[in-house]
Amino acid sequence: MTRLLIVEDDEKIRAGLLLQLREEGFAPSAVAAAEEALARLEGPEEPLPHLLLLDVRLRGMSGVDLVRRLVEIRRFPPTIIISGEASISETVEALRLGVHDFIEKPFTRERLLRSIRNALEHHALQREVATLKGEPEILGGSPAIVALRERIGRAAATEARVLIIGESGTGKELVASALHRQSRRAQRPFIKINCAAIPGPLIEGEIFGHARGAFTDAKVAKPGLFEEADGGTLFLDEIGDMDYALQSRLLRVLEDGRVRRLGETRDRQVDVRVIAATHRDLEKAVRDGAFREDLYFRLAHLPLAVPALRERGRDVRLLFDGFLEGFTRQHRMRARRIDPEVYPLLEGYAWPGNVRELRNLAERLVVFGGDPVTADQLPSTFFTPAHPPETGLLRLPEAFPVVPLRDFKSRCEREYIEAVLHRTRWNFSAAARLLDVQRTYLHQKVKALGIRRPAGGEEESL
Ligand SMILES: Nc1ncnc2c1ncn2[C@@H]1O[C@H](COP(=O)(O)OP(=O)(O)OP(=O)(O)O)[C@@H](O)[C@H]1O
Ligand SMILES: [Mg+2]
Repeated sequence: MTRLLIVEDDEKIRAGLLLQLREEGFAPSAVAAAEEALARLEGPEEPLPHLLLLDVRLRGMSGVDLVRRLVEIRRFPPTIIISGEASISETVEALRLGVHDFIEKPFTRERLLRSIRNALEHHALQREVATLKGEPEILGGSPAIVALRERIGRAAATEARVLIIGESGTGKELVASALHRQSRRAQRPFIKINCAAIPGPLIEGEIFGHARGAFTDAKVAKPGLFEEADGGTLFLDEIGDMDYALQSRLLRVLEDGRVRRLGETRDRQVDVRVIAATHRDLEKAVRDGAFREDLYFRLAHLPLAVPALRERGRDVRLLFDGFLEGFTRQHRMRARRIDPEVYPLLEGYAWPGNVRELRNLAERLVVFGGDPVTADQLPSTFFTPAHPPETGLLRLPEAFPVVPLRDFKSRCEREYIEAVLHRTRWNFSAAARLLDVQRTYLHQKVKALGIRRPAGGEEESL
């Protein structure tokens, strides 16, 4: 069913819209204020409505302000503004932000329905195009991600070299491709090379190209990736793993924009913007002498840090829901409900594999999960404590039956006292000293806990 959200402070109009839209087979709901709508749309536990019907003049936050905020946090459903009194500047601003249509009050039912159908169709089409292009968006509304998107926009407008830093799976490659797509080089090639995946000698030929006969297998001449990326962007992924010797060659290209194929003597001028990424601490690598300092400064004109998933708060829910929806569509599965107890577990988890790990989990749950998805379908890593136990004594096996805390405490006490007595060969005075308790207290404990001395040992006389 198509979910519509109405934001309208006039109670009569609100009730009228609800009634009409229900009659037309939609599933409408309504709120009276933009703040209320925002609270709903921000909360990732609720799916986004398929369409927003929005009044402009509202008591608090205006309709256009709401749209601006929704665009910012990427929770912006197709939107139609209904208004009697929007100013021209507001209208222009709203359309610029991507509002689908404007309907002036009073309007006919036909006009409204036409606009709704139109917006829904248009949106479905857009979505298809986006999927076809295979360009996933950088999802997330957390302050860290909003700020990152903003910095990407600014960096994309320049020619400066960007160094993207972040843990594995945080979305560094996504950031690199967003930088390219938003830059004036978008129509030119975006070429990516993983410096860690290709062995040293080969990568040199890949990046710089080679002449025919430059080495045994070089049967034909081959342009390098710098030449292929001419006019566009070259993305050097895992730059921290690049061979030291190769670093020097790269530095030379970055200095004068000229590349020389292996086995050739002439240089070729190229116009390439270089973006690099690494999950390593490059500054430390520089200090350790594993990475050239001059190269580091050539690459890191603009450093961009991609935050770890565990630092993004409620984005975890939002991304999870986004991936579930995506995979449900992709694998043509039935949409399933998520037990609310699942979300706090997702948010409390450390996500060492970051967004990639979350994405994989979502796919697995779409394919193998039940309906509803419940906490017990999550992998067991979700239930092991984030910190390894300090003593190593308490590695609770999966099958350990959970008992009340007091029972657990007395069991621990018993086993511990027993072990210490064993060590002191059942010398109570020594054990009491080690445990820093009175000897009489230790005797009471032993009795109360039902500790018995195994047959055969000698016991100190009482
Ligand atoms: N903010 C995001 N919104 C949507 N999808 C994301 C986001 N961040 C990452 N992803 C997805 O997560 C996966 C991992 O992202 P990506 O490959 O860009 O990470 P990475 O930082 O390059 O990882 P690695 O260091 O392991 O190479 C990809 O499928 C990517 O599309
Ligand atoms: Mg990567």
